[in-house]
Amino acid sequence: MKTLTETGITEEALARLANCPSPRLREIATSLTRHLHEFVREVSLTPEEWEAGIEFLTEAGHITDDKRQEFILLSDTLGLSATVDIIANRGGAGGDATESSLLGPFFRKGAPTFLNDADISAGAMGEPIIVSGRVLNQRGKPIARATIDTWQASADGKYDLQQPHPDEMKLRGRFLTDDDGRFRFRSVRPSSYPVPADGPVGRMLRALGRHPYRPAHIHFMIAAPGYDTLTTALYLDGDRYLDSDAVFGAKQSLVVHIEPSSGATASAIDFNFILNAATR
Ligand code: BEZ
Ligand code: FE
Repeated sequence: MKTLTETGITEEALARLANCPSPRLREIATSLTRHLHEFVREVSLTPEEWEAGIEFLTEAGHITDDKRQEFILLSDTLGLSATVDIIANRGGAGGDATESSLLGPFFRKGAPTFLNDADISAGAMGEPIIVSGRVLNQRGKPIARATIDTWQASADGKYDLQQPHPDEMKLRGRFLTDDDGRFRFRSVRPSSYPVPADGPVGRMLRALGRHPYRPAHIHFMIAAPGYDTLTTALYLDGDRYLDSDAVFGAKQSLVVHIEPSSGATASAIDFNFILNAATR
């Protein structure tokens, strides 16, 4: 029988992957095993610390259900989701295609479809805003009939799913671009908000001396035949959390100036989204 040393265990664990029939799974499992073992050696993880880690993951499992996904939140707050997203988009989004940003947990299928100029606030209080722009291809040509799903938090930083009546859809909707690729809707200015911080991930953030806030933003998912679907968000200029987004989603190219209201005209955001021709 072999005597397994501190590093010999890693070699032995890797050898046991030899019969994995999927080359990709073998590649992932090999790298994950190597990095996990190296991590434990690097920090000389103690049995008590390892047990605390297992308890943390167990708690994340217990709090997760069909409405709350603590593991995605963990991935988000560690910067893993944003890294996966950047890598997934590094080949495709050439030239000046709009950068992607995290989908997050608050997207809902089946949001009401509106005509351009409609108000998606459904009575939510706050500073009125008008959001408009065009959907274009990389040659600057308009994309007509692109589907735009948009969703956002309220002026007090809550999505409809977090309100007392989560079945009511508010501050979200679906629009179609016109012949000129244009869209336009009314809403209220969203505010920054904390990601759910009442579970183990919140405890982790506090232990690490981190805040749980995302800068104010409006989400978009834009789809059109012949183009890659773009999942992104626009971040409001001047927000104090732009440089410390708890989930690493904010990007400079997605920061938008909000034109202050003048007279009877509401504050306004104007942004052109550029889609990438389909890569798959
Ligand atoms: C969001 O922007 O909706 C979000 C993204 C990641 C984690 C929590 C919220
Ligand atoms: Fe969000």
